[in-house]
Order: sequence, then C-alpha cells, then structure tokens
Amino acid sequence: MSIPLTAPIAKTTGMSDDELIAEINRLRKERNAVILAHYYQDGRIQDLADFVGDSLDLSRKAAATDADVIVFCGVRFMAEVAKILSPEKTVILPDMEAGCSLEDSCPPEDFAEFRKKYPDHLCITYINCSAAVKALSDIIITSSNAEYIINQIPEDQPIILAPDRHLGAYLSRKTGRDMVLWPGSCIVHERFSEQELIRLKTEHPDAPVAAHPECPEHILRHADHVGSTSSILKFVLENQAQKFIIATEPHIIHQMQKTAPHKTFIGAPGMDDDCNCNNCPFMELNTLEKLYICMRDMTPEILVDEETRIKALAPLDKMLEMSPPVPKDQRPPQNFPMTGRAY
Ligand code: 13P
Ligand code: SF4
Repeated sequence: MSIPLTAPIAKTTGMSDDELIAEINRLRKERNAVILAHYYQDGRIQDLADFVGDSLDLSRKAAATDADVIVFCGVRFMAEVAKILSPEKTVILPDMEAGCSLEDSCPPEDFAEFRKKYPDHLCITYINCSAAVKALSDIIITSSNAEYIINQIPEDQPIILAPDRHLGAYLSRKTGRDMVLWPGSCIVHERFSEQELIRLKTEHPDAPVAAHPECPEHILRHADHVGSTSSILKFVLENQAQKFIIATEPHIIHQMQKTAPHKTFIGAPGMDDDCNCNNCPFMELNTLEKLYICMRDMTPEILVDEETRIKALAPLDKMLEMSPPVPKDQRPPQNFPMTGRAY
C-alpha cells in the first residue's frame, strides 16, 4: 500500500489564497458547479464549499444536486459515489491520488473470492471501498446509518461486513449480531494511543471523549460518544460540557470551533507525539490550489465504467432507501441547487 506524502505542497500558480478563492468562486458560477466537502478537508476548503458533511450527507447531496459539475473535496471513493448516483454530471476531484487505506485493504479480486466462501451471507459493505467492491456488495452503509440498517436485517440472515474490521467489531457489539469481518482498517483511526488518551482524560476529567467507530476497541471503550463525523459534531454542540477530546481526524475541529467558539476541543493524541499522524494523508492531498486548478482545467475527472456503475448503484440505492429519514432541520439550505431525488 502506498501512503502519499503529507508535506505541504508548494504552490505552482503563485496566486495568494484570496486570489485562488476569488477564481474558484468565479469558476463555480461559470461552470454551474457545486462544491461538496468532507469534514476532514482543510478549513479553507470547508469554508468555501456549498455543503460540508459526512459520507452519507455528501452522497445524498450528490444524488440531489442539479448542478452540471460536482467538485468533490474528499477522497476518491466519495467522488466515485457521486458519479455512480449522478452519472450525467461531470465529477472532478482536486487530486486523483486521494485514496483511502480501507479501499486499499480490499482489492476487488480478493473480495470476490472471499464472498464465494459465504454464498448464503448478505454482504454489507462500508462506503469506504472502490466502485468494483460496491458492485460485489448487497447493501452499502456509512458510519451514520450502519446500525439502523443492520437492525432491519432478519436475525437469521448471516452477514459479511467489509472492509473495516474495527467498524465491523463495533457494529457486532452494538447489534449483538455475529458477522464475518474483512480484515481492513483505517491507518488514521488506528494510530490513536490508548495510553496518551488515558493521560489526557486524567488531565481533563471534565472533557467527554467523542470517537469515530473506525477506531479500535481499545480506544472506543474510553469514549462517551461513538458515531460518524456528523454525529460527533452534533454531540459536541448539544452536550453541556465546555471541553471535549476528539478521537477522529482533527480537521473536523475547524467546524466545531466555528459552530461553538466558546468550547474547547482537544484532538486525541497519536502514537508519536510530535507529528500530525492523525491527519488523513489522503484527504490532505486536496489543497486550495489544486481545487482551483481542477475547476479551471476540469480534470482529474471521475469516470466509472457503466457495467460497474449499474452494479454498484443497486447497493447504494438500497442504502438510501434503508437509511433513517433526514431530519427537517438538516435538509439542504434553500440555495443548495438540487432536483430533490434523494429527499
Ligand atoms: P463519515 O461517514 O463519518 O464522515 O466517515 C468517513 C471517513 O472516511 C471516516 O474516516
Ligand atoms: Fe480513509 Fe481513514 Fe482517511 Fe477516512 S480517515 S478517508 S477511512 S484513510
């Protein structure tokens, strides 16, 4: 598996951030483009996006938008989902190398062989995988709808859960269901240090811990709240505490500080204390400058071959059908360009 460099990339255009933002805004209008961003993106990218959300929110927005171009500021599998759901749109991603260690851990050929060993199992697959793996799956889940969806599966139906073994083990504990797990993991969420987390909790006994279910069990057992990025955000906004320890990719703290500036957010430490090792190296590949260049040149473009797309669409549509309804207060703002397909 290749891990991309995390070092800041020097600008090639020589433009300042303000100039880049002005050009991005001009191109957004000119191309009738919508910019979707995940919470793990650089704060400047989150700030200029039309919509910021978790994987499920972003899939719904991608299915609903009536823009001609979807500029996806996230990782490649997320942009692929946008293309699968909205094939008539042009979908571009600032850096095509923005992959995901969970996707890397599950090659489609190996996964097809693995599935053959369990012909009577329903294959529930986390959205963090390639289009080819989605095409081999029965239902896609994200961390915000997984438990809700699994609870709709008849109790006597055996389940394969792929590719995240930590999310799988967490869901197995939560739902009481035995599952066959694919042994993949997220390199970011696996790097939190339990010892350092315990030290931090002792230092800040009044700070609840919020963690993403991609973390291993030895981290999750110290958490007061476990959930998707959007559910962690909701938790810290609604909880009365004034200080929180956050065990997920730290760029989400940007959104927390914006929405609750009076509260304090402490990123859970990684195993090496002098590094940014809990930054997602794939998400970090998307920079403001690459966002501008991809909108200027309309490349790199996400393409999914039609046979794979049709096969991958079925389990994604199943996911949208089986997901909890979107609460009224979380529907898109009035100005979000949409056709209404997913709402
Ligand atoms: P969310 O669906 O919770 O946003 O998670 C996406 C992801 O890649 C977490 O690492
Ligand atoms: Fe993939 Fe982990 Fe990065 Fe999420 S944080 S995109 S699961 S590598």
